[in-house]
Amino acid sequence: MKNIILTGDRPTGKLHIGHFVGSLRSRIKLQNEGNYEKFYVMIADAQALTDNFDNIDKVKNNILEVALDYLACGLDPNKVTFFIQSEISELTEFTFYYMNLVTLSRLQRNPTVKTEINQKEFGKSIPTGFLCYPISQAADITAFNANLIPVGDDQLPMIEQTREIVRSFNSVYKCDLLVEPKEILPENKTCFRLPGTDGKAKMSKSLGNCIYISDEESVLKQKVYSMYTDPNHIKVSDPGNVEGNVVFIYLDAFCEDKYFEKYLPEYKNLDELKAHYTRGGLGDMKIKNFLFNILNDVLTPIRERRKELAKEPEKIFEILFKGSDEAKVVAKTNLLKLKKAIGIDYRSYFKK
Ligand code: TRP
Repeated sequence: MKNIILTGDRPTGKLHIGHFVGSLRSRIKLQNEGNYEKFYVMIADAQALTDNFDNIDKVKNNILEVALDYLACGLDPNKVTFFIQSEISELTEFTFYYMNLVTLSRLQRNPTVKTEINQKEFGKSIPTGFLCYPISQAADITAFNANLIPVGDDQLPMIEQTREIVRSFNSVYKCDLLVEPKEILPENKTCFRLPGTDGKAKMSKSLGNCIYISDEESVLKQKVYSMYTDPNHIKVSDPGNVEGNVVFIYLDAFCEDKYFEKYLPEYKNLDELKAHYTRGGLGDMKIKNFLFNILNDVLTPIRERRKELAKEPEKIFEILFKGSDEAKVVAKTNLLKLKKAIGIDYRSYFKK
């Protein structure tokens, strides 16, 4: 079977470097390896509305921002089909039929949804649409027969939920129509989830602890220089801790040996740098400066490309609409197959 890859993001803000190492880098790798029949990248505006239904401007405005981030990072519209989720109305039909196959208690057990419910302080007033978003995510995936899903590890419960729906559908309707998808996680475990610059578990816009892919050089510098390190590493001579030290966590995610040659030739690799820090005698300023140089090397070409692309937003939307038209045709065909498998393809009964 040829691979069909599908992934996406909610347009609730610009993408940050957690997205970059968590899934953008593996998407670009997959794109360049070319071992697929179709590759879809979806801007999940309908999913974003499940907890932002009263904040349309945020979702609307971020469609362009996320698309710019994708293109600037190197996703190529000649190789990847980009689309906007709400453009594909068929997805809501898939969702509706799948809702019969999932219990309320199953939805309430989803660990990612549980965390989000706590964060958003919904209490007992959980919007039904929000609770059901894992079902709609199963629709996104199966409507295109996608089998590979490059995502960050917080999305694992959604992929698991999708597999359960696939198995349940095929069993209830005695068919083998739907395909069980598999996640693709980053090879480097540090990249599963980058902490915020303040050391908190997750980068989040509301905590103000994100480094955005599009941050200007001066902003990047200021964010790196004010990063959380080891609170007990006060004097340069003090032994330092690399565990839980955000600078070293980011270095684990971004550093390659070539950067030592360029910026810190007195060390060969990250292990040597870590050993020195642990021993004592290596100041935070030096490691921060090193990290800044690396991040700036990675992000500068992206930032520049993004500025160019941002000059012609209509061209970006052209790409999104063209992709949406293409995706709609596929989802429509697959919806007919789904209805046939269920047995509600009434019109075909009367065709000669
Ligand atoms: N849940 C994803 C996020 O929060 C977005 C998303 C929606 C998605 N549908 C998907 C990701 C299907 C992968 C596959 O960013």
